Amino acid sequence: MSSLAVSDEHASPATAKAKVIQPGWVRILHWINAVAMILMIMSGWQIYNASPLFDFRFAISITLGGWLGGALLWHFAAMWLLMVNGLIYLTLGLVTGRFRKKLLPITPGGVISDARAALTFKLAHDDLTKYNYVQKMLYAGIIIVGIVIVLSGLSIWKPVQLQWLTALFGGYEIARYVHFICMALIVAFLAVHVALALLVPKSLRAMIIGR
Ligand code: HEM
Repeated sequence: MSSLAVSDEHASPATAKAKVIQPGWVRILHWINAVAMILMIMSGWQIYNASPLFDFRFAISITLGGWLGGALLWHFAAMWLLMVNGLIYLTLGLVTGRFRKKLLPITPGGVISDARAALTFKLAHDDLTKYNYVQKMLYAGIIIVGIVIVLSGLSIWKPVQLQWLTALFGGYEIARYVHFICMALIVAFLAVHVALALLVPKSLRAMIIGR
């Protein structure tokens, strides 16, 4: 299984040891999640258009399914991919200790000082295997948003069978708003995540062993 690795910059080129940034399983699950998320977002926008919560509709060209029925089929098909993949990710993240090692601790002081450093272009990038506090907070935050969007989705999908869950969200209507807001947070996260991924590789590529 391939892994994303960087060289140890303090070692000589001959002895440089690869440091794994992302193990193979993280990369595979990440890309499956990306596909599932895009399908869920685009079909979700089509579902929204059938009965908008706000005073706007999404352009048909960025939606999936063609009409409400088609969009619901896409949404429920991709849901299985998202849920099975997500459960494997959460299980492995917990069992291997990756979440604890990579995402904890998160301190308010650390987040504020790293955010300040990032805004003044002083954030150190010398060890790409370690997340800074802003990354830790955003990654942990988006995992929680991912869990909430699945739970709110389940609560509006099966409001009779899972009425305790729907009640936990304050009822069907509020669960719908929660579901939509989580989608908006995921889309905002994706925009920043993709923009940074496009900017970073220039420096990262030079450090990846053998390239
Ligand atoms: C297990 C996961 C999920 C389930 C079971 C689920 C289920 C549902 C259901 C039943 C609806 C229709 C609500 C209605 O009839 O008004 C819906 C709407 C929607 N879903 Fe999901 N969903 C899930 C995950 C996601 C994800 C991951 C996204 C996007 C990141 C998403 C985005 C949307 C959007 C934008 C809508 C339209 C909101 C509205 O107008 O009510 N869903 N979802």
